[in-house]
Amino acid sequence: MVNDKLKQVCTCRELQEARFLIRHIRFKNQPVSAIIFAFEGIAYAYVNQCMHMRRPLNCEQDAIFDQTGKYLRCSMHGFIFDPKTGECQSPVCFGQRLQSLRLEEIDDILYFAEKHLALID
Ligand code: FES
Repeated sequence: MVNDKLKQVCTCRELQEARFLIRHIRFKNQPVSAIIFAFEGIAYAYVNQCMHMRRPLNCEQDAIFDQTGKYLRCSMHGFIFDPKTGECQSPVCFGQRLQSLRLEEIDDILYFAEKHLALID
């Protein structure tokens, strides 16, 4: 039974096949985008807004990871983030975190499990 507070993101297969997905959402009354990706077999989602100047991580390139694939990377000025925690690893914003978004998986479908989140089509 799917709780009506859950908002469908994608199937698990879609996420496995994509490098990352973008969903346009309203979170805490702000229109933003969300990045969703799998890292070491686990799905993560964050508000797509760098700590540095609030730009989307993919604003300059169609990518959210650095060349090693170990860190999220903002394409604006290259700040990097731990994909598991969203914590910034670059000196200016060290320790600040991307806003994480809870995901829930039910029957191979991923849902946002955040109260103050709505999907924007
Ligand atoms: S806006 Fe992301 S590194 Fe500057």
